[in-house]
Amino acid sequence: MDQIRVHGGRPLHGRLPISGAKNAALPLMAAGLLSAEPVRLANVPRLADIASMANLLRQHGVRIDRADGPDGGGDTLTLSAEEIVSTVAPYDLVRKMRASVLVLGPLLARFGEATVSLPGGCAIGNRPVDLHLKGLADLGAEVEIENGYIKASTPGGRLQGGRVAFPFVSVGATENLMMAAALAAGETELVNAAREPEIVDLARLLTAMGATIEGAGTDTVRIQGRETLSGAVHRVIPDRIETGTYAIAVGIAGGEVVLEGADGGLIASAVDTLADAGLRIEEVEGGLLVARGPDPVIGVDMMTEPYPGFPTDLQAQYMALMTVSRGASMITETIFENRFMHVPELGRMGANINVHHASAMVRGVPQLTGAPVMATDLRASVSLVLAGLAATGTTMVNRVYHLDRGYDRLVEKLSACGAAIERVPSERAAAEE
Ligand code: EPZ
Repeated sequence: MDQIRVHGGRPLHGRLPISGAKNAALPLMAAGLLSAEPVRLANVPRLADIASMANLLRQHGVRIDRADGPDGGGDTLTLSAEEIVSTVAPYDLVRKMRASVLVLGPLLARFGEATVSLPGGCAIGNRPVDLHLKGLADLGAEVEIENGYIKASTPGGRLQGGRVAFPFVSVGATENLMMAAALAAGETELVNAAREPEIVDLARLLTAMGATIEGAGTDTVRIQGRETLSGAVHRVIPDRIETGTYAIAVGIAGGEVVLEGADGGLIASAVDTLADAGLRIEEVEGGLLVARGPDPVIGVDMMTEPYPGFPTDLQAQYMALMTVSRGASMITETIFENRFMHVPELGRMGANINVHHASAMVRGVPQLTGAPVMATDLRASVSLVLAGLAATGTTMVNRVYHLDRGYDRLVEKLSACGAAIERVPSERAAAEE
């Protein structure tokens, strides 16, 4: 397996392009199932998860044409779901990526049936889909679990709009229900809906396809369904988690970088916390300028929360920053039950972190030291790369396939800003071990 080698101690300077948002593009692609007309998505990032969703949609019968974006920019995907040949999402595809469950709502709403493998857990937690299933049942679907598959159907022939009250916030359940409601008869009200920018971006596409949606981005979303939805053209919003990741990279390595195409408004809570820690972050023409002076950042407590709170997807990266801060930081993870797997790996680099249930006390140390470390999940793997930027010596990050799921051209982007970072192909990595 490929590795990433980082030689620490070099500040970052220059411009770094931010790609389209993975967690917006995935539901937007699934929404292509809702129409027999083409849906065109611009600024789609080049990621393993995007390829996984494309493979899943193709086996349903969706035709997907990809055109390269402008130099290094996102691709344009044209999805045509005119001829769907199967409403089954098989285990061997779904197990590779949980977001595959987002085909459930669209398939059920347009074809009256869907058989989707249960996604199963993943490294960061059990991650059930009970809220998705209960919500669809609230719209009149019959849902059973058989042999590891969700078998859903609409005995009444079509989903009926209704009221869905989520007991707690779920991004994916909100997205699945918005897409299902867009073809349901009548009005659907989603209560305690997720408010993430990716929800708002999905609402923009569904509206362009003909649905009427009010309240996207608030905790109550109303959707007027239609008999059929048309095609549309849509541009994916910039990736707020990638933006936060590279802002934290500057915090760790020092220097000054312009994050091109970034929208700081999408991660206002994280921007506030990073500014409190000592980063200079300001909107400039075409993006977001992030700078850190000669002194390390200071320790600031943080708790992850549903949007607009501090994103759980930035927790591991923020922890890497706090390991080299002046002072201490209490970091509390409230969304997932097992999202501290980066802690022992950071500890191998000299970090001082004590975990107690859902909280980690991080005491800053003057210096991390490079080491061979193991990536366990997407965001944990990037936190190890970030730690490597600050560490003395060389850090080798193994299992970088985790990184390829969510970071488009990470090595190129960081090395263009002065980082000493390279990808070591597996055969060379094995030879050098
Ligand atoms: C989305 O996952 C994101 N993935 C995740 O990003 C992100 O961490 C998460 O939202 C929270 O912001 C995509 O958008 C593709 P949830 P999702 O449903 O929708 C529990 C990344 O790194 N839950 O909001 O799966 C669940 O176990 C990924 O890019 C239920 O119990 O997250 C979790 O503890 C990781 N039952 C909490 O709710 C359900 O039916 C929030 O999950 C659904 C969720």
